[in-house]
Amino acid sequence: NRHVISMKDFSREEIDYILDIAEELEPVARGEERSRLLDGKIISLLFFEPSTRTRLSFEVAIRRLGGQVLSLGSVEASSVMKGENLADTIRVISKYADLIVLRHPLDGSARMATEFAAVPVINGGDGSVHHPTQTFLDLYTIRRESHLEGLKIAMAGDLKYGRTVHSLCYALSLYGAEMTFVSPPELRMPREIVRELRKKNIRVKETECLEEIIGDIEVLYMTRVQRERFPDPQEYEKVKNKLKITGDLLKSADPELKILHPLPRVNEISPDVDDTPHARYFEQAFYGVPIRMALLALTIGVIE
Ligand code: CP
Repeated sequence: NRHVISMKDFSREEIDYILDIAEELEPVARGEERSRLLDGKIISLLFFEPSTRTRLSFEVAIRRLGGQVLSLGSVEASSVMKGENLADTIRVISKYADLIVLRHPLDGSARMATEFAAVPVINGGDGSVHHPTQTFLDLYTIRRESHLEGLKIAMAGDLKYGRTVHSLCYALSLYGAEMTFVSPPELRMPREIVRELRKKNIRVKETECLEEIIGDIEVLYMTRVQRERFPDPQEYEKVKNKLKITGDLLKSADPELKILHPLPRVNEISPDVDDTPHARYFEQAFYGVPIRMALLALTIGVIE
């Protein structure tokens, strides 16, 4: 693949290959081995939305592979403030960098950027639909911490606006996962996604109640209610505290249950869960480094 825009552009074989490369690079990500795979390469991080993990783990991945980071800094400090459009910004940065990582609030902006870029584009999250590098690291975490084939997973929280769950349930359908969607009715998984999964004979269950399903799953993927995507702030207030994982709730969980979260969290996982063996979300954030190393190296073409 020349660009990384959507999980739907990848076959299961390609995904497995990328996870294998990430595993090989994990010692480099941990700083235990050295690599110069990106020696002489300049990678632009173009972030039009706030980010901690995606931006910084890309930055670490680039530095650990010997590449250089070209950062826009804040949007406020750029010529976007003078009215420069995304197409021209991409055209110009293509002249400076060997690859562009883009995060943008508009659905479809990463795909659109590929029309104007003379270099590969990696989607660092656009709108409420795609966040493929997060999905790759989620799959990597699940493979490292549990297993992918036929996984029993629940995705909980904001399934309407959460782009990570939209990409993840598509990717897990390639591995025959059994999926339970847990959310208040206002934040249900979009109907077209549920229909698409059922058409592929994926078992999908929907509920509002975590207690009902906590004993029957191997992975619980929790998400934050995405306040910034609500057109009406009052609607956010109504649903913001509807689902929460606590130590008490976990008493009826399988001892092997792994809890993941793309982070940031707000208050949907109580701090007493952090010290339990179930909590894998901080390790998950680390796995963003080897995965982004693999995606950078393959996309820029220094490994095949
Ligand atoms: N999970 C994730 O994308 O985090 P950031 O928004 O901090 O990059």
